[in-house]
Amino acid sequence: MHEKFLGLTPPLGWNSWNTFTWNVSEQLIQETADTMVSSGLKDAGYEYVVIDDCWSLRQRDENGFLVPDPEKFPHGMKAVADYVHAKGLKFGMYSCCGTHTCAGYPGSFEHEFQDAATFAAWGVDYLKYDNCYKPKHIDCETLYKRMSLALRNCGRDILFSACNWGTEDVHSWIQGSGAHLFRSTGDIQDNWESIKNLAQSQMQKMAFSGPFCHNDIDMLVVGMHGGSNNEWIGSLGGCTDEEYRTHFALWCMMNSPLMIGCDIRSMSDETKATLTNPDLLAINQDVECRGPYRINGNNDEQFILVKPLSTGELAIGLFNLSDRRNEISLQFWDMGIPAAAGVGLELYNCWTHETEGRFTERYAARVEPHACMVFKAKLVQGL
Ligand code: GLA
Repeated sequence: MHEKFLGLTPPLGWNSWNTFTWNVSEQLIQETADTMVSSGLKDAGYEYVVIDDCWSLRQRDENGFLVPDPEKFPHGMKAVADYVHAKGLKFGMYSCCGTHTCAGYPGSFEHEFQDAATFAAWGVDYLKYDNCYKPKHIDCETLYKRMSLALRNCGRDILFSACNWGTEDVHSWIQGSGAHLFRSTGDIQDNWESIKNLAQSQMQKMAFSGPFCHNDIDMLVVGMHGGSNNEWIGSLGGCTDEEYRTHFALWCMMNSPLMIGCDIRSMSDETKATLTNPDLLAINQDVECRGPYRINGNNDEQFILVKPLSTGELAIGLFNLSDRRNEISLQFWDMGIPAAAGVGLELYNCWTHETEGRFTERYAARVEPHACMVFKAKLVQGL
């Protein structure tokens, strides 16, 4: 989105893992890139097409180079990258800081500089770097710093997506490693409990996310509706469209990268409308990347997130993660707005795209179970 500054705002794109796991191929990537353009996802801001695990052969070649599986990628990776680039999109790949990837393919341990050069030669723009089969005697910090340096010196701009699942207090050292995003959670599953658990787990860590280094609470399951080929991720799961909207709003308000995980070739109109909501995307992509603060801090089920935007406005999300309908009440005092100063808010609803009106002192609404309301709020003086 911001060409000059690699990783300034959270990356937007698509990743193969949630729906396809081991079943990746040149054809899938080409068709997904085509759909990114024809569906309007690219125009909405999504730019990275990322192949996750399971793309290589089980062994390196005799010179230690990674080899794309010729059955899955018959023309090699450079051809895939060229195809994605010709669509005006960017191309991402996956490796691991250990000896093997999580699915048992070769990892980059002690091949970091060689692999970074290979990825650069193929035209890779994004590397997701996992945490399986890491030798016990070395810490994550060392290995993520190592790959970050290798990428920063490979002669190509490659966004570095660190994925150590929040272990070893990653938020405390990841900025210094040079990574552009850091996974802070375990793997998402296509069900409501998983969405809720991941969001709740990072409520206290929002202040560690910022420009050039974003807290990644894992890829989106929006629109999957149980469509994974993997039982654990959720071939038997799925959420309602309302739950997917709440998931998307949480990820936008919490400044997470937005990597689509569904099969976009067959996404529904509801899924597309959620993923391309311009007001929510603008909140996620706000150039200052300020993490939200939480009001109702002691209640993990019903709370309000408030995120200051670079325009002077506030993004405000009322979230009801509980199973009961509830009134959520926002006292403007808690955001630094004393009624006595004659200051109020004009609320614009980011789901209906309509202005709700002007309010002083407080705003309250009934929010359905697993639902949310998101507003862009403009300060109004002289009320
Ligand atoms: C880990 C990661 C996932 C995915 C798989 C691939 O579990 O956290 O996001 O990349 O590995 O095997």
